[in-house]
Formats: sequence, structure tokens, C-alpha cells
Amino acid sequence: MPKLTDQEQQEIVRFIEAGQPLPDKYRFLLFEDKREVELVWNGKTNEVCNVVLPFQVIEQVDEPRAEKPDDNALQPSLFTMDNRGRQLKGWTNKLIWGDNKLILSSLKNGPLRAEIEAQGGLKLIYIDPPFDVGADFSMDIEIGDDTFLKKPNILEEIAYRDTWGRGADSFIAMIYERLMLMRDLLAEDGSIYVHCDWRVNGLIRLVLDDVFLGQFHNHIVWSYGGRGAKSIGGQFPRNHDDILLFSKNRDYQFRRVDTIKKIPFNGSGYRLDEVGRCYRTAPRGMYTDESIKRLEAEGRIMQNSKGTIRIKYFEEYDGNFVYEKKQVGDVWEDIPDAMHMSTTEKTGYGTQKPEALLERILRASSNEGDLVADFFCGSGTTAAVAEKLGRKWLVCDLGKFAIHTTRKRLIGVQRQLKTEGQDYRAFEILNLGKYERQHYVGVNPSLREEEQRKQAEEKEAAFLELILRAYQTQKTEGFASFHGKKAGRLVSVGPINLPVTRLFVEAVMLECRQKHITKVDILGFEFEMGLFPNVLDDARNIGIDLALKYIPRDVFDKRAVEKHQVVFHDVAAIEVKPLVKKNSVAVQLTDFSVFYSQDSVAHAEATLKDKARRIVVEQGQIVKVSKDAKGIVKRTVLTKKWTDWIDYWSVDFDFQSKREIVRVQREDNGGWEERWTGDYIFENEWQSFRTKKDRSLELTSAYHECLPGRHKLAVKVVDIFGNDTMTIVEVAVGGKK
Ligand SMILES: C[S@@+](CC[C@H](N)C(=O)[O-])C[C@H]1O[C@@H](n2cnc3c(N)ncnc32)[C@H](O)[C@@H]1O
Repeated sequence: MPKLTDQEQQEIVRFIEAGQPLPDKYRFLLFEDKREVELVWNGKTNEVCNVVLPFQVIEQVDEPRAEKPDDNALQPSLFTMDNRGRQLKGWTNKLIWGDNKLILSSLKNGPLRAEIEAQGGLKLIYIDPPFDVGADFSMDIEIGDDTFLKKPNILEEIAYRDTWGRGADSFIAMIYERLMLMRDLLAEDGSIYVHCDWRVNGLIRLVLDDVFLGQFHNHIVWSYGGRGAKSIGGQFPRNHDDILLFSKNRDYQFRRVDTIKKIPFNGSGYRLDEVGRCYRTAPRGMYTDESIKRLEAEGRIMQNSKGTIRIKYFEEYDGNFVYEKKQVGDVWEDIPDAMHMSTTEKTGYGTQKPEALLERILRASSNEGDLVADFFCGSGTTAAVAEKLGRKWLVCDLGKFAIHTTRKRLIGVQRQLKTEGQDYRAFEILNLGKYERQHYVGVNPSLREEEQRKQAEEKEAAFLELILRAYQTQKTEGFASFHGKKAGRLVSVGPINLPVTRLFVEAVMLECRQKHITKVDILGFEFEMGLFPNVLDDARNIGIDLALKYIPRDVFDKRAVEKHQVVFHDVAAIEVKPLVKKNSVAVQLTDFSVFYSQDSVAHAEATLKDKARRIVVEQGQIVKVSKDAKGIVKRTVLTKKWTDWIDYWSVDFDFQSKREIVRVQREDNGGWEERWTGDYIFENEWQSFRTKKDRSLELTSAYHECLPGRHKLAVKVVDIFGNDTMTIVEVAVGGKK
């Protein structure tokens, strides 16, 4: 540090004593880091998140559905399978739901890291962060012939606000921390591609230079043309995206990529040599004499009468056509944009990128069997291409809809590969679920026992307060099970890290009977399987009007709570009928109801302008409200059948056969220990879903062979808003009751 003059030292003290910020010049005098050029933004810090939360497997997809009990054409060679089609060994691909900051930090510092390293580490990361302001979280949902624009949920809106709320400052802060975590996770010879456009390419390039210490390789211009780029006065139309390629170290894996152009031989400028090889020539260019000698030995030199040298370039030729090979450069003009994708490829996800783009990237920077990742996966393009090219994958997204779209897409890829007799891998869907919530009430383990207990109590009280505020409830005292009161109903809040169980509900009902309470809401993050809808009937039979409502993850966002934006949805209801035939069982879906409300018909009618229309959701019905030129209102119910609400459903024919195990850190020696959470993993064995191309849905599953005896079947339904609901039924197979 240069010696400060007495005057400078006194000035610093004066500023500090007055509580004022120091003038900028002291940044360069006081700090050790001598970087002359540095990217700085408001709030820049080198601190990165180091939280480790255990991943929770919520679903496992080993095999796409079998159509008949004897359809056991398992994947041919890649893995050892058990008789249920479960992949017994090797890496299972991962689709993780949650904020990528917590996910990256848990991957980097937690036990999954060893599993990643055992696969050779992350060789390639592709990310396509939300750089297109606002385009990411809205989604068109199709209902019959109409389309309903699903607005972002609060959590998604918050991510959006966190990213863009303070303009460029917040975007850089968001991406910088995540890029630092990604760099640490990358394999030593790994590389990263970051997709962006004119809005943030300048900033991201500088941030990447900072994080990857200048290991820059390419600024790829993906010129998709065709989109009918809007021509804006005073500038050229913007019709390309930018993809920046950086590596972790100087040595990294890369393979050149060629395109092949098929051109008719006649008039192509190609000739045939004496042995029938097809070639064209070009001037010697920069070749040294030494190189010319080498090429001469290979028979690639042609000299004319004046002694001018030309180099021969050979290409494949089939008698009619020449197959001209050309190395792909850094301007990609041969990949059309998403609007021109085939209908089979289109998922309906607003920011979906073409598979051809990812295919080029994966071929250049990964080998078969390598692990590739995408931490902003959207509709799952990276995962789909990785699966098709035999790479392993790990992808994540914050949006529920993104996760659901990726799940359907990857099942589709598995089905396609299975039909073609090719290998595919199992994948699992994970989240940080209750651990993310526990983190919220987590206590500091280094405190003394008494202090830990006090801290836990305080945090739990704060949590309860938060939920009651989000639900806009008045606090109540003097009850064993109730915490608040809202619009004549008593409100009970379930535990933060456990599902609301039957026992919990029974305690609530007991207090209702003792104190003559008839209207009750129970709020929970999760509800014990099979609790619904029977428990509502039980309550009704004793004169209690009981409503079970999900606490959304959005409650952890103070701003959303303050603005009363948090919506608590009622738990949906599924009805199914098991069908037994000898030693096999199938499931028929017989009813599904949801109770969502968003906006109201009355409000839409009162506020709609003439010749306008709006779609609202009221008490489980989607209604189109329109006004004609004379202001006459028309209401059309779009969800005519209960099946209109269903986007996807799947069956686990033997639930409880796979326990959910998490790895948690031991407090005594810091090692990792496996613990059963008390839950089971939903094994997705049969599924039917709508796609952008095929809107049909089957309502009866295929028959599945089981061992004789009693079995628990689990049925999961995902509604058109992307919310999961599950039910369990018990069935006796093979005549034994
Ligand atoms: C531009 S889209 C990616 C589209 C994707 N490349 C595709 O082909 O479908 C960006 C995605 O980032 C997700 N996202 C935004 N913030 C996130 C966060 N903090 N953690 C995880 N995902 C996030 C959004 O949900 C969105 O799906």
C-alpha cells in the first residue's frame, strides 16, 4: 500500500467520523488488489453463497411407459435393470427445481459434488439466463380452442424483479455470483457457453472476463434471420443473439465442427483426378515452403506452366453430388430461430431455443458420456439434446412450468430412443423442498443448547407471524390448534418441515368439537398422502366446514407479503378407479377438481372496456368474459369438462417400494450420512400427457403386472397451471384380499 500522507490519513478519519463514504481515489490507495481495469457495480462483493441443503428426490423416471404387461423391451445395453425397469447402476440424470443460487452452492459444497466428480466433473455448461426482460415466466396455456396467458407466479416475478429490479446492477450481481459458483463446479478442462443478446452482451462479456480470468475463446453470433426482425427507425434490424465461449483453464476440450453442403457436381468448380477423387484448388495463401513440401508428398500440390502453386482440396463425391465440408466459424447463419422449429420440437415455452443450436455446442465441447449442465434450463433443450447425443445431464430451473415442460419433453425423448432401440438414462426430479424451508428456521449449531432452543423458538414464531400476515389473518390467543382468524374462519398453520398429517387434522377437529367451531382453514406446505379428500368428508359429517390450503413458497418473500400478493390455493382432488385383471392392475382416472380463483367474473365485467375480452379463473372454472361494441357482456366457460384441467398424469404401480433418502451433514464429524425422510419416491411407470402437437389424453393406464397381494398405487396429476397433486389407492391383486 502506498504510504498515505498525514493529510490523507486525517481526511479518512474525518469522513469515517462523519459517517460519510470515502472519495473514490482511496479505492486505489487502500486496497491490495492492483487491478488497473476492473468492472465495478453497486454492491459488488466477492462473497458467494456457501449454503448446503440436501436434495430431495420427488420423482424418478426410469423407463417411459410400458404399453402392455409383456412389453419389457428395456434399453438394450447401457445398464443393469431390475424387473421393474429400474436402472440399478450408474449416473441418474437430474432435473432440479429451485433457485439456481442455492442449487449451485449445494452442488459445489455438498455430497453430490463427489458424484459429479466421479463422472469426470462438469465438462460443459450452457446457460441462457433471462436476458430478454419479461419474456420468461409468462406462458400460453391452451384450453380447447382458446389460449390463456398464464402470468408469472410470485416467486417467478420475484426472480424477475431480483434480476431486473435495479436494472443492470441487479442483473450483474445475480449473474456474477452464479458464474463464480459455476466456475468452481466446472471440470478443469471444462467450458461454458453463455447465451445473451444486445441487451446484456457487453456486461456479460466483462463479467465473464473477470470470473474466467480472460479465458475467452469465441463471441458466436447466432444470426437467426427470418424472425422478421422489427425495423426500427435509425438503426439496422436486430436479428442475432450472442453466445460467449469461455473455458476454466487454458487447456480445455474442443472439437472442430463441420457443416456439409451437397452440391451438384456439374458447374461446381470441382474436378476429378486420374484416380477419380473429386477436388478443387485454391491459392497457396499463407502456407510456408515446409508445409508445401509436406502437401506435395500427400499429392495435394498443383503447379501451372508459370510455376504458380495451388493447393488441392478433396471432397466426397458420389457420382452426381459433391459433399463440401466447411468448418463452422463464429457466425452461425444456418440455424433458424425457434419460430421455425418443427411442431414436434415446439413445446410452447416462450424462450425455447432450437435443438440444432445446442447440438452444435454439445458436439464441439463434450464427448459421449460426459456430464453437461444448464442452470437456467427453461423447456429443457440442453437436457433433450444431451440425452439424444448420449451425454449425461444435470439441469435446473426456478419455474414450476419449466420443470414440468422439461419432464414431459424428456419422457418424450426417452420414448423416442426406446422406440429406436437406443440407450437412454433414468432421470430424477429433485428440489430443496422442505430443506429450503428449514433453512429459513435453521438455528446456528455453534450456539449453546439453551441458546439454540431460544433461537429456534424465535424463528418459529417469526415464521408463524409471516404466514399469518401473508394470509391476511388476525392473530388469536387461547387455542391449542389455531393461530389466527380470517373472515369468520379459524386458521391453523401446519408445521414448516413436515406434512400436515391425519393426526394433526384430528387434533384440530377435536378442538372444533370441544369449542363448537364450525369453519376452519388448515394451511400447510405439504399434506400427508391420501389425506384428501376423505378428511373433508369426515369433517363435513360432524358439521365442520374444513378447507385445506397450500402455503406457497412465495411467503418467504417479504415484498410479496407486504403487497398482499401471496395466493393460497386449495388442495385439488383426484378420483381414480383401480382395474384388476388376474395378476395385473390398471388405473382409470375418474374425476379431478381444482378450486383456483384468480380475478373474478364480476371484476372483469366491471372493468372491461368495450370490444375487449379477458380470461379469469373463478372457483375452479376458467371463464372468458368479453364485451361487444355496445358493452354487452358474454361469459363462456372454457373448462367444460374436468379433464380440461389436466395436462399430465402418471402412475406408480407400487408406491412405497423406494424410500426417499437424503444425505445430511453430521454435526459431530462433518461427514455425510444417509437418512430416510419417512417419505417414498414416486416412480413414474406410466404416463399420459398433452403436447403442443397432440392435445389428447388417455384416461385409463395400461395394465401393469404385479405380484399377488395388496399394493399401494400412487397417481399424480399435473394441472394446466403446472401444479402437482397426488393420491394413493390400495388394491388387492391376484384374488387375495
Ligand atoms: C431464457 S429462459 C431459458 C430457455 C431455455 N434455454 C430453453 O431452450 O427453453 C431462462 C430461464 O431461466 C429461469 N430462471 C430465471 N431465474 C432463475 C433462477 N434464479 N434460478 C433458476 N432458474 C431461473 C427461468 O425460469 C427461465 O426458464
